[in-house]
Amino acid sequence: MNFQAPHLIVEGNRTFRLGSIQGREIHYEFSRIRDFLEFKGKQLFGETFQIYPEDHGILTQLIHYFIKDEIMCKNHGIDPDKGILLSGPIGCGKTSFMRLLKLIVPHKRPYSVLSSRNIVFAYNHIGSKALQDYGDHGSYCFDDLGVEPSGKHFGQECNVLGEILLSRYELFVLHKVKTHATTNLNAQELEDRYGNRVRSRMRELFNLIAFDADSKDKRR
Ligand SMILES: Nc1ncnc2c1ncn2[C@@H]1O[C@H](COP(=O)(O)OP(=O)(O)OP(=O)(O)O)[C@@H](O)[C@H]1O
Ligand SMILES: [Mg+2]
Repeated sequence: MNFQAPHLIVEGNRTFRLGSIQGREIHYEFSRIRDFLEFKGKQLFGETFQIYPEDHGILTQLIHYFIKDEIMCKNHGIDPDKGILLSGPIGCGKTSFMRLLKLIVPHKRPYSVLSSRNIVFAYNHIGSKALQDYGDHGSYCFDDLGVEPSGKHFGQECNVLGEILLSRYELFVLHKVKTHATTNLNAQELEDRYGNRVRSRMRELFNLIAFDADSKDKRR
């Protein structure tokens, strides 16, 4: 990674130029970022991956957030200091986008995309140690939030992701640490799942970016 020129990304014998340097700033170009994301998407998820025109709106918001374009974030009502909660119907491409978007800012600390289900399975196996793992300053994207089973370790029931979100909220308030997540659920369903204490903190923790409810399932 070239820290002097983070807008140049070398992939094998190809160099992707995501924009140009103007003064001390990088002037990113949407079409170049889109081409890079399509290339990486094909590489990671298969040749059928493409950036669909109907996803340009949501992708634009995500790009402005990740490159920290303050003016455009303001236009979208996005707070660049909070994390992202990417919601949308099954198979619309939430996980793929979150796995891809960190790649456009290689000079920033990447977040790990972690399956919420797997975190619960870790809790069932090792108990509260599994919760502590996410109370650190690491950056995470909790994938498929809200549909994970509830945790149980030696008879001790636990709303694992609910507890983790409470810790992540503390970290956000004290140290500005970011948390991202993807979900199929709407605000009401998240509240039903985690209670209003967690839901209220989620509003502080996340910017909500939502795919249209009628976005098609890309698995089909
Ligand atoms: N832009 C795309 N072009 C082609 N295929 C895609 C695209 N985005 C995602 N896919 C494929 O569609 C499937 C679903 O994508 P993904 O897992 O990102 O969706 P999701 O919204 O996270 O789904 P879920 O709600 O089930 O978690 C995957 O097989 C993925 O490779
Ligand atoms: Mg997903």
